[in-house]
Amino acid sequence: MKTKIEKLLAEVHDFKANSKEEVEAFRIKYLGKKGLLNDLFTEFKTVNAELRKDLGKAINTLKNTTQDKVSTLKEQLEDTAEQTGQFGDLTRPAAALEIGSRHPISLVKNEIIDIFNRIGFTVSEGPEIEDDWHNFTALNLPEHHPARDMQDTFFIQQNPDILLRTHTSSVQTRFMENNKPPIRTISPGRVYRNEDISARAHCIFHQVEGLYIAKNVSFADLKQTIQYFTKEMFGKSEIRLRPSYFPFTEPSAEVDVYWGLETETDYKITKGTGWLEIMGCGMVDPNVLKNMNIDPEEYSGFAFGMGVERIAMLRYQIGDIRMFFENDKRFLSQFKAAL
Ligand code: DAH
Repeated sequence: MKTKIEKLLAEVHDFKANSKEEVEAFRIKYLGKKGLLNDLFTEFKTVNAELRKDLGKAINTLKNTTQDKVSTLKEQLEDTAEQTGQFGDLTRPAAALEIGSRHPISLVKNEIIDIFNRIGFTVSEGPEIEDDWHNFTALNLPEHHPARDMQDTFFIQQNPDILLRTHTSSVQTRFMENNKPPIRTISPGRVYRNEDISARAHCIFHQVEGLYIAKNVSFADLKQTIQYFTKEMFGKSEIRLRPSYFPFTEPSAEVDVYWGLETETDYKITKGTGWLEIMGCGMVDPNVLKNMNIDPEEYSGFAFGMGVERIAMLRYQIGDIRMFFENDKRFLSQFKAAL
């Protein structure tokens, strides 16, 4: 009998339960009316007087241990039940955090800023609501100059002097007003034109303007700077400068980069030529320097301006400029990986 009790005691010690039902079954098996302990007590009655003391003790120990075991197991199970109730299953994978993404225009703008920062250009900004002087007149575009027709302007109310800037070139004049040469700055920003909205044009878009003024700045410096930019931005350094006209630069040029004709899209975007126009540029017109009280005999410089949407459309193969302004989450969430 003694060995039986010891065996049962060891079993009680080792018993483990995962549910209340298991604990209850365990309790009934040992402590129930027809349980093992009752059997032992019945058997105990037949035991010799000299063995009684010893065996009685052993049975009691088994009974107490079993009772203790049942209540500890119950408590433990209640604790975990409480925790699961409160926090759910603590071992389950966490819910995915919805992270936002940068707008493709910001991505491209930041990349352009980065590229020019590396060669010493600072970033400058100006107001989007501008006056005629900074947007036009100071840039060698006097009131009745025909070149004003190139940019359809939104005027603010009836005041012909206050307008939404039509280009970031207005920041050039603001910057020259407040800073002495040498000047090396780029100005990213939003611009506005009174244009019909289509897949290729919008009344709001973004430009990045560049301005470099110092002693002995030459056209070769301009070309080198642009070549560095196209190399960094597109991995392409074959460029050509086509003579053009802008009132604020003389001479002026439009920059084409050789994009190649490898894919069908290349054919489409380059109209089968392989060449792609990416910006306007030129040597700052001496009249502009004079307007800003910079001596054109002492200083010279170059300027350039590019459209951010156009570059973003090339970079991400986006076929419609309106996508940038609709804020459709299905479009925007595609740029998550580009953070
Ligand atoms: N402001 C011009 C435009 O909006 C772009 C431009 C051309 C900027 C030549 C310049 C430049 O600084 O030199 O079309």
